[in-house]
Amino acid sequence: MPQRSARPGGGIFITLEGGEGSGKSTQMRLLAEKLESLGHQVITTREPGGSPGAEAVRHVLLSGAAEPFGAELEAMLFAASRADHVDQIIRPALEAGKIVISDRFFDSTRVYQGTAEGMDENLLQRLEQIACGDTWPDLTVILDIDPREGMKRAAERRNESEAPDRFEKESIRLQAKRRKAYLDIAAKEPERCVVVDAEGTPQAVFKRLWQTAEKRLADRLKTGKKSTGESRAKPAAAGRPAGK
Ligand code: TYD
Repeated sequence: MPQRSARPGGGIFITLEGGEGSGKSTQMRLLAEKLESLGHQVITTREPGGSPGAEAVRHVLLSGAAEPFGAELEAMLFAASRADHVDQIIRPALEAGKIVISDRFFDSTRVYQGTAEGMDENLLQRLEQIACGDTWPDLTVILDIDPREGMKRAAERRNESEAPDRFEKESIRLQAKRRKAYLDIAAKEPERCVVVDAEGTPQAVFKRLWQTAEKRLADRLKTGKKSTGESRAKPAAAGRPAGK
């Protein structure tokens, strides 16, 4: 059963998720600017990576070096990099009362590795507990885009000289499967997740995003640093001891 727990320091943890070309980075920037304009201290970060240890693992993952060992091993590496990211960057910032926005977090592992054939769901849950402990997102924004449009955007964004990474190379069919997996997560965890239509200009998408986020976070944003984080649900089983 999900439990409620207070977060020391009272920061707010927001994650942005979505398929290729869904515009997460742009929306993260716009969201950070908006929150800063309201007087909040904001940290933006990304996965895989975000801390020096995690950035080292990022290279292994995105180069495809871990691909031959299968989705389970990739999921373990994503989790290892997440554990460092949480310990070094996310948890300390939340404890200092900041708002942390991460471009991708554990839902990416659920969606990208979790949709692989034969993936053990139990393993994914255990990895989340090990990597995140009680550092659980308060709000997850899923940017929803038609895979064809998303892949078109991703290709346009890429430099001509740049080769697509291990995950960008995959087919429309697979991207569509991932889109459904994100929507399934949102349906299962409506308290944590919101789905935002990512079609249109960055400003149009942000308008939709902000309307939803503001509504969801209203109480927390008002109390700012004094927020206790009591509305945050954490996973059922005990996580890692804090600071581990
Ligand atoms: P990145 O270059 O950061 O691009 P973007 O987030 O804009 O798509 O690539 C990260 C890739 O790693 C992305 O294709 C999704 C994948 N990924 C996973 O497969 N599992 C994970 O747990 C995470 C965090 C990312």
